Amino acid sequence: MATISQSFPQSQAAAEPDFVPVARAASVLELVGNTPLLEVTKLTHGVLRPGVRLFAKLEGFNPGGSVKDRAARRMLLAGLESGALGPGKTIIDSTSGNTGIALAMLGAALGYPVELVMAANASRERKKIIQAFGAKVIYSDPLEGSDGAILLCREIVSRNPERYFKPDQYSNEANPLAHFETTGPEIWRQTGGAVTHLVAGVGTGGTIMGSGRYLKSCNPQVRVIGVEPDDPLHGLEGLKHMASSLVPAIYHEEELDGKIQVSTEDAYEMVYALGQIEGVLVGQSSGAAMIAALGVARELKEGCVVTIFPDFGEKYLSTNLWIGWKGWNRSRLTRLLAKCRKESANATI
Ligand SMILES: Cc1ncc(COP(=O)(O)O)c(C=O)c1O
Repeated sequence: MATISQSFPQSQAAAEPDFVPVARAASVLELVGNTPLLEVTKLTHGVLRPGVRLFAKLEGFNPGGSVKDRAARRMLLAGLESGALGPGKTIIDSTSGNTGIALAMLGAALGYPVELVMAANASRERKKIIQAFGAKVIYSDPLEGSDGAILLCREIVSRNPERYFKPDQYSNEANPLAHFETTGPEIWRQTGGAVTHLVAGVGTGGTIMGSGRYLKSCNPQVRVIGVEPDDPLHGLEGLKHMASSLVPAIYHEEELDGKIQVSTEDAYEMVYALGQIEGVLVGQSSGAAMIAALGVARELKEGCVVTIFPDFGEKYLSTNLWIGWKGWNRSRLTRLLAKCRKESANATI
């Protein structure tokens, strides 16, 4: 049984007396954010020093099922405010999946048609969910990954610019702003200001930039560490291997205090461990984030490490993550934990 020390609030309500969970909403837009922070206690038991705690923000609780609901909501609201999004417009973007789901969901709720360009190898569940929200899916070359989708989307818009509102999550400052305004403040409140490290995966960079900036504005000592795949040909949907990718305009690596690279194999193994040991079934980018967060936390004498689990795992059941799964083997966890230490030792933190 985990013990919760006095210095940490036991619930969001305790952390913030004015906090009122949304019990009734007029639109799904109002249900975005305010996700729970789960302390990871069993995987970390006997692994971390007594003064170190590790929490995961469960973004799968958003109405569209991922962290991207926040960015999509903020970008659409910014478009409505500026007039760039209005009657007669179609929302279009390139997306590795979760942003597409978020745009499709919110577009439906706001009454706008949505078209999404994505690599043809995005998971089957994601494509179906997007279509279920009424959006049109346009496929780009799977071998070109998310960059291929970006380029095809640009081409489509350039043929008919008046028709489209393109939020462009890679260069839209409303993306990191969403996290500056919501994710960061939630983490600060939920830890009662005790957070010392933020460890988060980098796709567009919106989550880590916005949340990191907010947390550093509260306490400049907070360390912000990015997580990326260790190989250009990776299986970590949602994350970018920056050295081999088009670098998003909103991503400013110089603002990070460090970066940890994680292999697809280790991230998958951690997804299995999180399901079996913590009872949390997440996607592969959460596995990668957890590997990195655990590596950071193991090096600390004292601290409060917060990582982001961008989504839950149901969407990936038909992907390589589960296709090759040979069943859980607890002994593999020991090997994985040893590796976490080695990976964080290589990072510049
Ligand atoms: C599953 C998943 N993990 C992580 C990320 C990265 O989030 P961000 O784009 O805010 O860097 C994304 C973004 O698309 C994602 O879909």
